[in-house]
Amino acid sequence: MNTIHVTASNSYDVLVGAGLLDKAGEYAAALTHAACAAVVSDNTVFPLYGETVCQSLRAAGLRVVSFVFPHGERSKNIGTFSQILNFLAENRLARTDLVVALGGGVVGDVTGFASACYLRGVAYIQIPTTLLAAVDSSVGGKTAIDLPAGKNLAGSFYQPRLVLCDTDTLASLPDGVFADGCAEVVKYAMYGNAPFFEELRQNGVKNQLSHVISTCVSMKRDVVCADEFDRGGRQILNFGHTFGHAVERCSDYTVPHGSAVAIGMVMISRAAVKRGLCGASVLDALLALLRALGLPTETAFSASELLDAACRDKKIAGGRLNLIVPRAVGRCEIMPIDTAGLSAWLRDGGAK
Ligand code: NAD
Ligand code: GLY
Repeated sequence: MNTIHVTASNSYDVLVGAGLLDKAGEYAAALTHAACAAVVSDNTVFPLYGETVCQSLRAAGLRVVSFVFPHGERSKNIGTFSQILNFLAENRLARTDLVVALGGGVVGDVTGFASACYLRGVAYIQIPTTLLAAVDSSVGGKTAIDLPAGKNLAGSFYQPRLVLCDTDTLASLPDGVFADGCAEVVKYAMYGNAPFFEELRQNGVKNQLSHVISTCVSMKRDVVCADEFDRGGRQILNFGHTFGHAVERCSDYTVPHGSAVAIGMVMISRAAVKRGLCGASVLDALLALLRALGLPTETAFSASELLDAACRDKKIAGGRLNLIVPRAVGRCEIMPIDTAGLSAWLRDGGAK
């Protein structure tokens, strides 16, 4: 088992290894004085892993209640958020009790936000069950829901008390969902770790799962520790996300987050090549790795559709936006631009 310690407004461990679900209760009891644990999950994950987690919590002496909602991005909304809050209140969870988010990034984001708001903050544990949640969304304390106007438009920074990443749970992921997580893995390699990019090129992800997750979590830890509240350096984690979020939104969330990020990374890299900011070999290497990992690299949405969606990005302020632009494999830069220039970037990225 690997342990990565995150030092932020609340400090915690990320444990990465096999067989951790069975120990959820033991870890929860050691961390908190909770009498009750509320396990929140979706209707795909709970039937697979819910009972193991609930049983482990019960064995540690906790009263356990569970709330399950329909899987998928469309559930990451104010309705689910409100249902979770009501569920916690109806079951009389106290401020000293514990919420457990068991699932992918959707479960983690909405449950984390509900935990931040319920009684002005109740402790929560992340148990990520997708590769994407393991390498990214379960760590760093960004919690959110989508609003009709756009993605992640309401949320908070609220760190979990523990992240338990049981690598056994990733065995049941459909290939496409596993691939979506690979997009975020490639993101880490592209923005800051050329040797890791080479390892991924040579060995893929599945053959070195614990190493891949631990590498990504350690990189995210370093970024989050330096800029927990996303005022500067943390924005590097958004490589591929400005255009990726636009693709997600244009598709009404039928293109999953990871796939959209893969497309977004290709678009910004293509634009960077066209503007002489990096060599063509960077785009070629990125395309080859994403294709080898089973990810999409193109979108049919037009430049004007993508522009409309990208202009709703929550990071736009005063008509300015930071793009994350590759300069080499393993090196990206934060580049402020005027939103008036966004259309040209999208066209340089290949949008028609
Ligand atoms: P997801 O949570 O929708 O999970 C994808 C699908 O896989 C779902 O249908 C789910 O039920 C299923 N699933 C989950 N675990 C499974 C398992 N072990 N076996 C079989 N099926 C399983 O999607 P995701 O890709 O995990 O997360 C995407 C979300 O994460 C997006 O909303 C994105 O915005 C968010 N995100 C947040 C952060 C952050 O820092 N908070 C970072 C990156 C992404
Ligand atoms: N996934 C982006 C961040 O955590 O900042």
